[in-house]
Amino acid sequence: MPRFDTVIKNGKVVTASDITDCWIGIKDEKIHSLAAQFDEEDLIGAKIIDAEGAYVMPGGIDGHVHLCQDLKTGPHGLGGECADDFATGSLSSLCGGTTTILTFATQTRSIEDKSLLGVVERYNARAEKTGSYVDYGYHIIIVRDDEDMLEEELPRLRDEWGVTSCKVFMTYESQRLKDRELLDVMVAARKNGITTMVHAENGDMIEWLTDKLESKGMFAPYYHALSRPPLVEGEATNRAIAMSELVQNPILFVHVGSTLGMDNVRKAQTQGLPIYAETCPQYLNLTWDDLRKFHSPTCFENSKMICSPPPPPDSSDREALYVGLHNGTFTIFSSDHCPFRYDSPTGKPSGILEHPDSMEDESFVAPTTLEEAHQCDKHALADLTDRKDGAFRFIPNGIPGVETRMPLLYTGGLLEGRITAQKFVELTSTNPAKLYGLYPRKGTIQPGSDADLVIWHPQDKFKPFQLTNSQLHHNVDYTPYEGQTISNWPRYVFIRGQLSYSEGEVLGRLRDGKYLKRGSSALSKGLPGKKDPRKVASWLYD
Ligand code: URP
Ligand code: ZN
Ligand code: ZN
Ligand code: ZN
Repeated sequence: MPRFDTVIKNGKVVTASDITDCWIGIKDEKIHSLAAQFDEEDLIGAKIIDAEGAYVMPGGIDGHVHLCQDLKTGPHGLGGECADDFATGSLSSLCGGTTTILTFATQTRSIEDKSLLGVVERYNARAEKTGSYVDYGYHIIIVRDDEDMLEEELPRLRDEWGVTSCKVFMTYESQRLKDRELLDVMVAARKNGITTMVHAENGDMIEWLTDKLESKGMFAPYYHALSRPPLVEGEATNRAIAMSELVQNPILFVHVGSTLGMDNVRKAQTQGLPIYAETCPQYLNLTWDDLRKFHSPTCFENSKMICSPPPPPDSSDREALYVGLHNGTFTIFSSDHCPFRYDSPTGKPSGILEHPDSMEDESFVAPTTLEEAHQCDKHALADLTDRKDGAFRFIPNGIPGVETRMPLLYTGGLLEGRITAQKFVELTSTNPAKLYGLYPRKGTIQPGSDADLVIWHPQDKFKPFQLTNSQLHHNVDYTPYEGQTISNWPRYVFIRGQLSYSEGEVLGRLRDGKYLKRGSSALSKGLPGKKDPRKVASWLYD
């Protein structure tokens, strides 16, 4: 019997705490041993991979990925058909060094979706239909606060499915919960050890600003950003922190995109409250200007950049957000991969089709090519005419990025010296594993952990390149990061000991990925002394 199935030699092994020059022995899908070097006889029968001095890291864990999701929801909604299923989404993930993805099973307000278990079963069938290249688990999006549902189903979701995280919305007409409904979900989540992820934007502010912008004829995609200035997130994070404190429930803010939001998180953390936050590549690499860069400022093509929250107004916030990654304000770094095609009427242009005016106008055809979209300038945007087709409020929110998440942070964060290699691992792998109940099976390199690994290129041998969408494996016809310089890329990616991606070649198969039943969060639930009866009402709901 060979001692190891695979040996990785000459690597700099990076964990959230250390960088160590050592070799890794892999056996039966797991990390078996770490040693300065193995003896010759230990190598007999093993596949040998030479890292050539490059970083060897735990595989990326992307805690925020939308695949095959129900996103058809109309005005102020998410809209559109999700372009990636588990086949294309997980392939894209693998090729960017992410070996585990957590995706969203979404409840809708329709009566058939009263059962959360039913929602997860329906969603799971989509994953099983294609299979996945990487390991995967689900968050549940909750859009109702029915008492029976929360009481009976959350424990079953946790115990039967290992679904130990839920997402709630403070905006989007079709999903948002009122404050009292948010409190109901938070209390139920706390009781069941379920992590609450909060989409924190003030929905009323957004709707009010949208009406005001439209009344001034401002319908173009760019105005999506102006309808969501940083205050919108600032207010909502503040309010959610107060609710979290009231019911003593830890929360994680997803996709924080403003320094205002980040500063609220920092302040709460300083007080010892269990407040966690995620940021994403779009907040470090894009600005409002990216929403008006295509062809003409009013061109519908700018819809490609619409996501919520939008990127920050200008690059002046960027350094502060990087500091937030460096100093621990941000707990995790995820993609919020939410893919819509531009060349399909069910993708970004579905926003146009949603509009009642365009539904009534039989001569109206949604743009399906770039040329048609430019044609669309003349009637898509009411800045130029009185037509409202293409109004930003109908455009699906979300951009792709599961494959570029790790290389972009490696380039802009690690290689620029803004974060250390250990911090890179913590943000992209270790903390998501801890937060979502996967640690230490995932998220680290230690004996007994799954051998999910990324080996980067030796830096001196890597030629930086300009990113183009044709290099990516998602089913989206653009990348928001077209033309950006990328200064390293995963060279080898292992999924539970199997070399699945090697120097640009996909060796893995669609059925390799396994569903992950998860445990509860391993992150702190806050300081014990914080149950101040003047502030919290625990005797009312405990
Ligand atoms: O614009 C975004 N972020 N779309 C994805 C849905 C969400 O809110 O995460
Ligand atoms: Zn969200
Ligand atoms: Zn999202
Ligand atoms: Zn145009």
